[in-house]
Amino acid sequence: MKISLPLNSIMQKSDFIFGVATASFQIEGGVDSRLPCIWDTFCQTPNKIRDNSDGSVACDHINLWQQDVDLIDSLNVDAYRFSISWPRVINAEGELNQQGVDFYIGLLDKLIAKGIKPYVTLYHWDLPQHLEDKGGWLNRDTAYKFRDYADLISKALGNRVTSYATLNEPFCSAYLGYEAGIHAPGIKGREFGKKAAHHLLLAHGLAMQVLQKNCPDALNGIVLNFTPCYPASDSTADRNASSIADAHFNQWYIKPLFDKCYPDVIETLPAIERPDILDGDMEIIAQPLDFMGVNFYTRAVYQACTYHQFKQIEVPDVPHTDIGWEIYPKALTELLVSLNDIYQLPPLYITENGAAMDDKMVNAAVNDEGRIQYYHQHLNAVNDAIEAGVNVKGYFAWSLMDNFEWAEGYLKRFGIIYVDYQTQQRTLKNSGKAYREFISKRS
Ligand code: FCB
Repeated sequence: MKISLPLNSIMQKSDFIFGVATASFQIEGGVDSRLPCIWDTFCQTPNKIRDNSDGSVACDHINLWQQDVDLIDSLNVDAYRFSISWPRVINAEGELNQQGVDFYIGLLDKLIAKGIKPYVTLYHWDLPQHLEDKGGWLNRDTAYKFRDYADLISKALGNRVTSYATLNEPFCSAYLGYEAGIHAPGIKGREFGKKAAHHLLLAHGLAMQVLQKNCPDALNGIVLNFTPCYPASDSTADRNASSIADAHFNQWYIKPLFDKCYPDVIETLPAIERPDILDGDMEIIAQPLDFMGVNFYTRAVYQACTYHQFKQIEVPDVPHTDIGWEIYPKALTELLVSLNDIYQLPPLYITENGAAMDDKMVNAAVNDEGRIQYYHQHLNAVNDAIEAGVNVKGYFAWSLMDNFEWAEGYLKRFGIIYVDYQTQQRTLKNSGKAYREFISKRS
């Protein structure tokens, strides 16, 4: 199968960016040359990572980065989205660690020399452990530490960076890390999630201020993830349940950026679960954005529930990826159209989209038809949204290569390049070939 779009598709326009994405902790390894982060600690805690693995080697990108840039180049993409490891570039005293900075300068310079635009994320979940020891994202001071890091690193990298995203998916950092406890730092309790979320959003706003000052020519913004919520039936009760879930999981992170307030469900929260909002915080959070990144993988379906307000249900007989997420591309179109209706959005980029598949290497090839189909369907879903009037300017496949998939360890493969973790050999999967061919066909 091939990835294709309608011939007259707006995505054939040359200013639409196609890219691939990764994140520091998931690929770099090289733990000895940086400070420990919360994911190092989490991985060392028994029963947190499904295969008991960690990020100490991962894809050994810290050593293999030159060959990885050559691979990115061979895909013919316009852009590469990656993240900077905060504990690699800032030391315990809060000063730049020049060795870490030089790693990213080398990477940026090679990308630029190849004509690949660098889209940099400043925080893709690897909080320095010494900051977690002082309360992490539950401590308001972490937001100011993040601003200082953003200030130092953006000055050090000069004008090499096309785009800065402050945070990747604050929902995951806050909810999965400080409420559900299934991601680092593994804190559990309804009283923590929204406090962490507020400090993350504050960190975003503070960092936006310094980025706009230091790098006015870069495209500065934030990356949010959305799992659109659908009601299990047409009943009023199910529709309410789904919209309450949506307020908590999706709108909670976008509404403050554009409307300077949290969704109305904040009024229903017991005092202990509310964030600590100080005067002026919402103005800081709602800095004008040059772009917003949207990460999309799947949808969720909800039913009314007397005990918890809403309950997620499994839809029977629908296709899933290898990580158990339903394949439902229409939700991507509907999401983009609805965000565009509700908010005054800046240009959007799909900063992550992709599928885990149970890949097998056979005769030095990976025939991942299911992933090709996923990309085909989702690129068409993006195209439908553009045709409905949404300003989407780019699309990044998650991921460039198989990597450390957080609590799933190395068990789930999302790459368009296969990684043999024993030999660190990279092999372009058929999906990588299809993506390359698709991109190369642009007029
Ligand atoms: C997103 C993360 C990314 C990757 C994908 C599968 O939530 O941003 O790092 O793990 O999911």
